[in-house]
Amino acid sequence: MSTPTLRKRILVLVSGSGSNLQAIIDKCESNYISGDVVGVISNVPNVYALERARRHNIPSVVIDHKKFENRESFDEALARSAHSFSADLIVLAGFMRILGESFVTPYYGKMINIHPSLLPKYPGLHTHKKAIQNKDSVHGASVHFVSTELDGGPVVIQSIVEINANDSIDTLQSKVVRTEWQIYPLVVMWFCQGALRLQQDHVWFDNALVEKSLESICLTDYQMIINNNNGTQNDEDNQ
Ligand code: GRF
Repeated sequence: MSTPTLRKRILVLVSGSGSNLQAIIDKCESNYISGDVVGVISNVPNVYALERARRHNIPSVVIDHKKFENRESFDEALARSAHSFSADLIVLAGFMRILGESFVTPYYGKMINIHPSLLPKYPGLHTHKKAIQNKDSVHGASVHFVSTELDGGPVVIQSIVEINANDSIDTLQSKVVRTEWQIYPLVVMWFCQGALRLQQDHVWFDNALVEKSLESICLTDYQMIINNNNGTQNDEDNQ
């Protein structure tokens, strides 16, 4: 008798449109990721990410940060809700709140974030604007484990795009987010497979220590993903 594969339980935290959430749901449903999105928590009511969850029959919860007196009480409510989903992995996907130590520490190694910059460059907001203003030749996105430092945890992989002379903040944002839909499900897939883990503040991949972020090989990986993309990725659906 074959052993059933244990699918991982994925909880996704959102604040907005949820295009990364959609990319992850799609890759779970196609079994590219051996896991399921078992819940979605939003800190903003009525965002499109909640509609995406509804369409896929995924339970969702709104914990509106504006209804809390301070960050600590919000974090406590969030922790209670997150705990109820018994998640193996927490995925921050366009989640726009800074999380305190009491929330982050228990999930260290089990919580990842995607940030639209080539970290450690440009943590925080307005990354596309900063890259253009600084006349950078490249920009991109980073997937990293979440630590108590804002956008500062160990980086797993980065996607890189070229900045052209005629790029605006909008065109650059649009180029970068399209790469996010590739690299984020990839990292979730690796984690759910057990290939990726965090040990003593370092990223391990297939039992080998990754000396630095996978930045140096991510271009190759990214090209590979794009080349292998057989058109199942639906950009319209992700917008
Ligand atoms: C993405 O660029 C992500 O990197 C950032 O928020 C943006 C929107 O994400 N954190 P989504 O469409 O809500 O997934």
